[in-house]
Order: sequence, then C-alpha cells, then structure tokens
Amino acid sequence: MKDQAVSEAFCSTANLGAGFDVFGLALRKYSDKISVRLTRGRKIRILVQGEYSAGISRDPSRNSAGPPARELLRESRRARGLEIVVEKNVPQGLGLGSSGSTAAACTKCLSHLLQLELSSDELVRIASLGEKAVSGTAHMDNVGASLLGGFVIAYDEPPRILSIRPPDSLQAVVATPLIPIVEHKTRQARRLVPAKLATHKAILNVGRASAIAAGFAKGDIARIGSGMMDEIAEPYRAQMVPGYHEVREAALASGAAGVSISGAGPSIIALLDRRRADPRSVGKAMTNAFSQNNTRSRFFVTEPARGARILSG
Ligand code: HSE
Repeated sequence: MKDQAVSEAFCSTANLGAGFDVFGLALRKYSDKISVRLTRGRKIRILVQGEYSAGISRDPSRNSAGPPARELLRESRRARGLEIVVEKNVPQGLGLGSSGSTAAACTKCLSHLLQLELSSDELVRIASLGEKAVSGTAHMDNVGASLLGGFVIAYDEPPRILSIRPPDSLQAVVATPLIPIVEHKTRQARRLVPAKLATHKAILNVGRASAIAAGFAKGDIARIGSGMMDEIAEPYRAQMVPGYHEVREAALASGAAGVSISGAGPSIIALLDRRRADPRSVGKAMTNAFSQNNTRSRFFVTEPARGARILSG
C-alpha cells in the first residue's frame, strides 16, 4: 500500500435556484489540490498553502478536510496519523463551494490511499461532514458536484447521489460583487432561510426543480434555465446581493437561459447555451447592472467540470 497520494477537485455552484441543497454543478474555473500522507501515530495534521490560504483554519475539526479524513480512517479501522497538505486555489466566501472542493479532494485522496471500496453515496456522505464542520449542516450539493463532476442531484436520507453529464454547449457566467466577505457567510446565509415553507411555494419549487433535472437529462438548456427560480432561500438571501434582481434581469435580457444566486452567494450565476448567447455580453450586462447599483463587480466565463481525480499515488 502506498503511503502518499495527491488529488484534485474543482469548485462548484449549488442550488441553481429551485434545487436548494440538492443540485450542484462542478465548474472548471478553480480547483483545490490535496496531498495526503499516512504517518505514524494517530494525529491529523493539516497544512494550508496556495493563493487563497489566508484565513483557512488548520484545525482538523474546522478545516473541511478534517472530518472526512477522520471518518475515512475510522471506516478503514487503521490506527494511522495523517499529514494533509491543502493547496487552496478556490477562493472562499464567493459562493463557489470552496470548502466543498477541499472536502471532496480529501475524501477522494484518502479513500484511494486506504483502498476503501466506497459507493458514490458513501463518499458524498463522508465529504459532507466537512461542510458540517464549516457551515453547520452536512449539505451534499457542493461536495457531490466536486466529487462526481457535471450536474448532480444529492437527495434523501441516507444520502443518494447521481451525476448527469451536462449539455456540451452549456456555459456559465459567474458575476461577483466586490463587497466585504461576510465571516461565516454560509452559516449566516442559512440562518436567513425560514424553517417553514408554504405548500404553494413547495409546489413551485418541486415543479421548477423537476424542469431543471429534466433539462439536464435531455440536454435542453432552455428547460434548465426555465426552472432557475427559488422560493426557499433566494427571496430571503437576495438582500445579501446588491442589485440582485436587476442583475438577474440584465443577464436574462442579454440571452442567459437562467440565473440564480450561486450557492450561498454573493456571486450570481447565469447559465447559457453558447450557440444562442455570447457569454461575455451576458457578463458585461451583469457587471453593468451591478454598477447601476453602485457596486463594483467582476465576472468570469466557465463551463462544467469533471469530478475529483487522483493526480499521483
Ligand atoms: N446549498 C448550500 C446553501 C450551498 O445554499 O446554503 C452553500 O454553499
């Protein structure tokens, strides 16, 4: 058995509007790399380096790599220690599943190293323990996308996950307002979501989420976009994103198929069919709308990404 491996997992967007805590889409913009080494003893040591390492905890119970690592060691019944080096290339606090990328890369790497034959459902459950440590809940949408790639549906208790390959012409524009990053942002954003939902709102979400899932299954980008609205979280989170409604309208008017807050925000994601719309025009329309709301912003264009992979070991 080898005692060291390196893995990579891409960032992701979660929710896509109607799929709060259920839908994720891996994005090829940023990826975290994780190196794991089995050591003597029982201690888990985490080192963090890379462009976005500032402010990332090294404490194994606060870094999203720690809880999945502990759980995988437990599953393996091996009394080993670990040295985990996180190369943090995914910026945090933007709504791009930064903690999920780390948790997914660590889960991929260590399950490989320990030669554990775990199902995707199990891997996603284990990776989601990292989200619990960081945001308070073990949501599976970001970790599922970073682990499996493409569009994922993470559902049920105990967890189940499936991944669908997105349509080839699907592109994403992510526009980010340059506002101060809120500390413990995901935790705060989740507090804004009411505990109860009226039945007619649940009905709207079920219908729209079904349209998104069917759109991915059929490769129909317009259908995907038609479901990207939400009654559960967005009405309460829109206040965290200056000019959200105007930015959304601007993106749709310039050809986006659908628009939503990316994960817990504050970035906004527009999905489009590159045969039908120019992603740079959509991005400029979004940043202009932010400007009209006295908010500086920037955007990037990206596409769906593959799942986590082993780079060496
Ligand atoms: N589904 C989660 C949320 C994603 O919206 O709170 C957090 O990145």
